[in-house]
Amino acid sequence: MILDDLDIPIVLAPLAGGPATVELARAVSEAGGLGFLAAGYRTAADMAEQVRSFRAVSRRPFGVNVFTPPPAAADPQSYAPYVERLGEEATRAGVPLGEPRCDDDDWDAKLDALAELAVPVVSFVFGCPPAGVVARLRASGIAVWITITTPAEAGQALAAGADALVVQGYEAGGHRASFAGEEAPYGLLALLQLLDAQQRAPLVAAGGLASGRGIAGALAAGARAAQVGTAFLRCPEAGTAEVHRAALAEPAPTAITRAFTGKPARGIVNRFMREHGDAAPAAYPEIHHVTAPLRQAGRRRGDANVVNLWAGQTHELAAAQPAAAVARRLAGEARDALRRASGRAV
Ligand SMILES: Cc1cc2nc3c(=O)[nH]c(=O)nc-3n(C[C@H](O)[C@H](O)[C@H](O)COP(=O)(O)O)c2cc1C
Repeated sequence: MILDDLDIPIVLAPLAGGPATVELARAVSEAGGLGFLAAGYRTAADMAEQVRSFRAVSRRPFGVNVFTPPPAAADPQSYAPYVERLGEEATRAGVPLGEPRCDDDDWDAKLDALAELAVPVVSFVFGCPPAGVVARLRASGIAVWITITTPAEAGQALAAGADALVVQGYEAGGHRASFAGEEAPYGLLALLQLLDAQQRAPLVAAGGLASGRGIAGALAAGARAAQVGTAFLRCPEAGTAEVHRAALAEPAPTAITRAFTGKPARGIVNRFMREHGDAAPAAYPEIHHVTAPLRQAGRRRGDANVVNLWAGQTHELAAAQPAAAVARRLAGEARDALRRASGRAV
């Protein structure tokens, strides 16, 4: 069991869309945590190349994260008015909108490659893979983790054969992992307590964990490790855009929006979210493809108002430090916090 073998209880969150790099994953794995490569938005060939690059620089365990495909394409009528509305943004930015298309992010080819590469851990997000997929990866010696946001989703993931659950709270930066309804979002501590009471699988806690104090809380509530995303976004090894790095450093509110991708995701509130959030349809990945050129242009121009500034609720605690230092500091602070808390409990 890989979680038992980590020197520090820190898992690097997979950070698709630019921030995830082989160097970042390597730094966290070499520091004694678990580095993660993000296969999302990449081809299977690209993903395999990253796995080989990681293995060329580290013998430590690592994971690869895969997007489970959407069950069905969205009805074009449900998003047509939104695409029309974004036309003005495209004119303003001087770039065309992308084509609204539904794809499976190279799902079959990724599964084939991962089984063949026999990577230590594969985590899934945005859906529960079928039991056959889980069994096939496990037969290749791979530990399968499934990301969940409610007790009901946890039940589905366990029925599919997951070795561990990535428990994502409402505080988390980036896309919500939810796949069975969004009506009643759970905070991380609430969800951990409910799942720990069932004692059915190891739990990896994700969402707003950007300090050792927070990680100590998650560990005390039953998590075996913390999956940390936003706190690594300002590391020099991360591929985070400059405009995103700058926004993370300042205190600012975050909110959940479908405006950028058609799927709920938490980011720092900006003009694009404020102006379009209420009108945005549930249509992922169609809207992701439509807004991609706008976001790219925004990153190039350094215009924070049109970029998806994914961030968890504690983003202002993210430090511009090398990733190994961040991982070790978080683990050391968590140990201290647990010691101090145990003094208060007696
Ligand atoms: C920029 C960014 C990209 C993300 N990409 C992924 C991804 O590709 N796969 C995934 O499972 N989670 C992804 N997440 C969510 C993380 O796995 C995790 O749930 C989240 O970062 C935890 O909250 P925190 O950001 O407050 O630490 C992403 C989060 C961020 C901030």
